[in-house]
Amino acid sequence: MSAELSAWFAESGELAFAKRALVMPWRHRTPIIETEHPAAWRRLQAAPRYGRKGLAYVHVPFCANHCLFCGFYQNRWQEEASRPYTDRLIAEIERETDTPLVHSAPIHAVYLGGGTPSALAANDLARLITALRTHLPLAPDAEITVEGRIRHFDDARIDACLDAGANRFSIGVQSFDTQVRQRLGRQARGEQAIAFLEGLARRDRATVVCDLIFGLPDQDDAVWQRDLDTVRGLPIDGVDLYALNLLPTTPLFKAVELQRRSLSTPQERQRMYLAGVAQMRDAGWAQLSNSHWARATRERNLYNQLIKDGADCLAFGSGAGGSAHGVSYVVGGELASYEAQIDAGLKPISNMATSDAWQRTRDTVTGGIEGGRLDLATLPLADVAALLVRIEPLIANWHEAGLLLDAGPVLRLSPRGRFWANNLHSALNELIPQLAAAPAAEPAESIAA
Ligand SMILES: C[S@@+](CC[C@H](N)C(=O)[O-])C[C@H]1O[C@@H](n2cnc3c(N)ncnc32)[C@H](O)[C@@H]1O
Ligand code: SF4
Repeated sequence: MSAELSAWFAESGELAFAKRALVMPWRHRTPIIETEHPAAWRRLQAAPRYGRKGLAYVHVPFCANHCLFCGFYQNRWQEEASRPYTDRLIAEIERETDTPLVHSAPIHAVYLGGGTPSALAANDLARLITALRTHLPLAPDAEITVEGRIRHFDDARIDACLDAGANRFSIGVQSFDTQVRQRLGRQARGEQAIAFLEGLARRDRATVVCDLIFGLPDQDDAVWQRDLDTVRGLPIDGVDLYALNLLPTTPLFKAVELQRRSLSTPQERQRMYLAGVAQMRDAGWAQLSNSHWARATRERNLYNQLIKDGADCLAFGSGAGGSAHGVSYVVGGELASYEAQIDAGLKPISNMATSDAWQRTRDTVTGGIEGGRLDLATLPLADVAALLVRIEPLIANWHEAGLLLDAGPVLRLSPRGRFWANNLHSALNELIPQLAAAPAAEPAESIAA
């Protein structure tokens, strides 16, 4: 048995692995040096996306406050920022409209994320969504999501989004427990969060989903049980149940280091997740991914699933990340520099990187693990049969450890396997290039060189 395999074996005891792995999407990419960015960007824009699934991501990098747990905070929100930032976003979108990259194939989902898109002024939300619908080749059934939080998201802003064509709201709630919320920096009380979601759902004009996190400080089993009971009772269409990630850039990380806050153990977090999986299933919700459930068919979770499948994604706004044709890029996260470059007619790229020949294989692994089912026999490899033989002991171990429902080449994740999905994902991404002779030949020539 090869040494590489046993390093990824799981334990059959309560915890399959010592800790949950973090997925690092840029790990296998090679940076393009900064002086090459303009030429690489021009080549990318000139490359049509025929036959490839397309997405667009728009980033709004402002927040009213830095929530204790969150690694996405960039800039403090001020009302005056709304109009000039929206003007620049629209200029950035309009500039790319006529490129082969944008226009050659439909865009299936648009995601306005943050930060806090719902903090933009009502007329700016309307202008932005209208610009996206006017300038991007959206599929007739495109999902258009606005991410938001309760604070600042008033009726005028909600109506502006709906009237302009948004058809999905993703609302960060985290917990319905007022004390847990307020200690995270979320001012709205639990009852206000419930009333807000009920109000959105009552309009019946868009899909409504909300985010909850388990493993937050002060959120014990009883609080989590109430969170699950509350969300199941709401007339919304979908819910994310995220495990808390303790990220080094967050105020929570500092507070834990200084022993001002304590966190649940991995055992407790696993128990909370398994309770969530069982109760959502028993209530008839469909599990669409490791962290996402749909109550109604209105919810498709299209953007999140396609991004995991490796679809091309156009990125707009300071801090946005995109990729196409195996080239990943980040739009400059430093606001002043983003503004100056947009005003100078440039695309403010801060990072670019190319992927290697294994990327299609990795995308298949990521999409499959996220969806809870990966048929190893369908991986785009030159010799898939050789991989199946060599990886068999690892699959048998994962099956024995209760992470997989069967030991065959179709990996169907158990609820416990879904809790440890990042570990399975990391293992496969590291091992497959070592165990398989070569990836299948690339269908198209890379545009990165
Ligand atoms: C990019 S945030 C934006 C949400 C929105 N601004 C809000 O405040 O609700 C999207 C979601 O990521 C999740 N998230 C953020 N930090 C997290 C962490 N450290 N661990 C787990 N989930 C996290 C939260 O559930 C959050 O709603
Ligand atoms: S949770 Fe939302 S509002 Fe809070 S810091 Fe993160 S992105 Fe900003």
